[in-house]
Amino acid sequence: MVAGSGLIETLAPRIQRVAGRLPRRVFVLTSAPIWALWGQIFCASFAEAPVVLFLEPGEKHKTLASVEKLLRQMARAGGDRGSLLIAFGGGIVGDVGGFLAAIYMRGIPYMQVPTTFLAQVDSSVGGKTGVNLPEGKNLVGSFHHPLAVFADIGALGTLPDRELKAGLMESVKAGIIRDRTLVRFMEEHVDEVLGRDAKALEKVIAASIRVKAGVVARDEREQGLRMILNLGHTVGHALEQATDYKALLHGEAVGWGMVAALYLARRRGTITGHQFERLESLIHLYGPLPALKVRAGKVVAATRGDKKNLGGVRRFVLPVGIGDAGVVEDVTASELEAAVGFMLAQAGEKNA
Ligand SMILES: NC(=O)c1ccc[n+]([C@@H]2O[C@H](COP(=O)([O-])OP(=O)(O)OC[C@H]3O[C@@H](n4cnc5c(N)ncnc54)[C@H](O)[C@@H]3O)[C@@H](O)[C@H]2O)c1
Ligand SMILES: [Zn+2]
Repeated sequence: MVAGSGLIETLAPRIQRVAGRLPRRVFVLTSAPIWALWGQIFCASFAEAPVVLFLEPGEKHKTLASVEKLLRQMARAGGDRGSLLIAFGGGIVGDVGGFLAAIYMRGIPYMQVPTTFLAQVDSSVGGKTGVNLPEGKNLVGSFHHPLAVFADIGALGTLPDRELKAGLMESVKAGIIRDRTLVRFMEEHVDEVLGRDAKALEKVIAASIRVKAGVVARDEREQGLRMILNLGHTVGHALEQATDYKALLHGEAVGWGMVAALYLARRRGTITGHQFERLESLIHLYGPLPALKVRAGKVVAATRGDKKNLGGVRRFVLPVGIGDAGVVEDVTASELEAAVGFMLAQAGEKNA
């Protein structure tokens, strides 16, 4: 995993270094808007232009139908076991690209060149690939690790502000569960980070990756520890679902979900009132998070389908102080209702 500047324009020699040689056929999976901005720069270091495959932008194209279409394009273009696939885009391109590479001819090597903040700190780390079904998100997939990840901070220069801020919520999360130095850095360098100062971004990205990679290395298949990466995600996913995946970006939903988790943690005493205030302020420093127009009952009902719930027990990740977290299994319906009520009241106030 390399995070830095000037990576996209120097990919070919980097690939050669990692793979030993430049594969005969290089496929790039991307989407048209990203390619329009970055395609020329991407191709600069390749003597022979890679074969470009396009995925339509948007979560609704993260499907098996897209996968089939792309696999057939690869076959028609002569892709073989020695081909390399590069996923060049946000998390959607990364998840689909990784999955293509996992199943094409039973698996070919791939690399990630993530271009959103979220993809750089989160989705390109950990080896999870896959697509959605109409029945739910990310229900089909496989673990397939990239040969390399090149996170170019320069790519973030064209990323819309809203996408950047949403992605930063995953860094706030990483800090809260595992890295108090990152929490402090993000508190003290808001202007630099939001102003896209390369040094500040590099620091936040590197620290966030370290947290995720460290957790995943100890628990790749999500038996236990990896669950702490889901801080804010129980209520976050419920919010996304209750608003039909339209009103909120994933990171924004996680931001609100963390507010609910902080409330529960304060109530249970795993964080102090002071820590609660500090962490809640941090979330809003990287906001403002969008207003929520959704009924509490709908959000609470949506938490029942959470993948983390085993046998009907409502599992919840709660921060323990700043820089640690644990999983509780006995969150009652009334506690959850109170937390969601608190979050929704905040969502009203902050945006009034
Ligand atoms: N595999 C994992 O472990 C994992 C973890 C978290 C999220 N995910 C997945 O990631 C996906 C979300 O990823 P995302 O937030 O990156 O969304 P995304 O891939 O939809 O990208 C967001 C938007 O930004 C645009 N974009 C991307 N890079 C750009 C750039 N440099 N300049 C301008 N515009 C750019 C895209 O075209 C898109 O419109 C979800 O499908 C989610 O399930 C996977
Ligand atoms: Zn997330």
